[in-house]
Amino acid sequence: MSNTSKNTPKVGIDRITFATPNCYLSMKDLAIERGIDPNKFTVGIGQSQQAVPPNHQDIVTLGAQAALPLMPYIDSNRLKMVIVGTESGVDASKSSALYIHKLLNLSSWVRCVEVKEACYGGTAALMMARDYVLTHPGAQVLVIAADIARYGVGTPGEVTQGAGAVAMLVSENPRVLQINNDSVVKSAEIQDFWRPVYQSTALARGKFSTEQYIRMFCDVWQKYSAENDCNFNDFEAICFHLPYTKMGLKALQAGFEANSGASLTSDTRERLLARYQDSTQYSRRIGNIYTGSLYLGLISLLDYDYFRNSCDSSEPACDSPEVSCDSSSAANSNESPLHLSPLLPGQKIGLFSYGSGAVAEFFSATLVPDWRSALFSNQHLKSLNNRTQLSVSQYEEMFNSAAPYSPQDFVSSQKNRSGARFVLDSIKSQERNYRSI
Ligand code: HMG
Repeated sequence: MSNTSKNTPKVGIDRITFATPNCYLSMKDLAIERGIDPNKFTVGIGQSQQAVPPNHQDIVTLGAQAALPLMPYIDSNRLKMVIVGTESGVDASKSSALYIHKLLNLSSWVRCVEVKEACYGGTAALMMARDYVLTHPGAQVLVIAADIARYGVGTPGEVTQGAGAVAMLVSENPRVLQINNDSVVKSAEIQDFWRPVYQSTALARGKFSTEQYIRMFCDVWQKYSAENDCNFNDFEAICFHLPYTKMGLKALQAGFEANSGASLTSDTRERLLARYQDSTQYSRRIGNIYTGSLYLGLISLLDYDYFRNSCDSSEPACDSPEVSCDSSSAANSNESPLHLSPLLPGQKIGLFSYGSGAVAEFFSATLVPDWRSALFSNQHLKSLNNRTQLSVSQYEEMFNSAAPYSPQDFVSSQKNRSGARFVLDSIKSQERNYRSI
């Protein structure tokens, strides 16, 4: 049953934005250095660039940076919880939400917690926030999904690394999306990807993990469509957890195959594929941000619709060198489609969340009136376009200089701090020292 009935309060995402490190690596450069055909990375995997975090950034600084643009919309009397979904936590005991809470100078009268289930943690946090607001009308909850994906230099997973954080403000009468009460969740203990607490890099059974992702998508989609009496035609777009941009496409195509009977029209197939391209634009340039990846895809979907459709308004919508007001150039970037009609209030977007281990959830959200005016689209593109490109050796040096997983003292680098509003300065006597800059 969806929460669209008159008596159920409308609860959902009031604002949503992201932060990512100010350095990146070209996947073409990485492929050449590793002796691999660049097309494998850019086409076979679907990644063009990868965000690389300097060692003064971790999920706390990225999470705080992502939440900063939301501060004008946070009412300290209404904010009741700060929930961080992450699998790159900086402490096995203390919640990263407390560090972020301090950096943002938030009210003391809130609950600060961290939740973990691989890439599913952000969705768990969002659902906790939605449920809290439903039972506490008027409350606001700050949800942060922040991660640094590290597999290791020269590993098969290297091309799927990335770093970033998504921040969402959840409230009643949201200004972007209402979250519907229709989700289907599945859990199954699977050893496809994990990270023991003593190490900073993940372990993955790569091919097995992709098979589990697809199987879990097909399972939750089948149950979701039966329980909610719907099919793909009912969705304007479907966003996926994006460990790399080819992954969601594989799942969508598997879903199409399983539903190739009467219910799937060719218009729907084309539309969902075209919208999928929009949803992958940012991930293609950032990489996997684990818990935040699904929501980065959602932001990308909304922003690319905004870039195509907001240029004739009085607002200066398209100020980026890469996306101009000429819809063909916006649409052409990374094969984004030319023929999509504008997203409209009332349209439903499907969201598929997958966290290895594994938990998968499919749910929907509905666009609300005037949703475009609540976006941060231009700031997003600007932050990506202003990043510094690293050589492969600079990336390797940065990767190997990350804060250690050991008791030794650490002082972070002064380099590549431009644009960073929060830094991890040092770790002294096993205590982390953060500050605003
Ligand atoms: P791999 O063995 O390096 O790649 O691993 P491959 O040999 O499977 O090739 C990848 C694709 O490139 C294939 O396409 C090739 O055909 C193609 P596909 O058959 O899959 O459509 N290819 C080429 N295309 C064009 N030109 C060429 C060329 N050569 C090959 N010359 C893998 C790839 C993603 C498995 C690896 O990078 C990895 O292990 N990554 C980490 C694990 C991962 O991302 N798994 C995804 C599902 S699990 C998940 O999403 C959860 C996760 O986010 C963690 C969490 O929940 O916390 C990871």
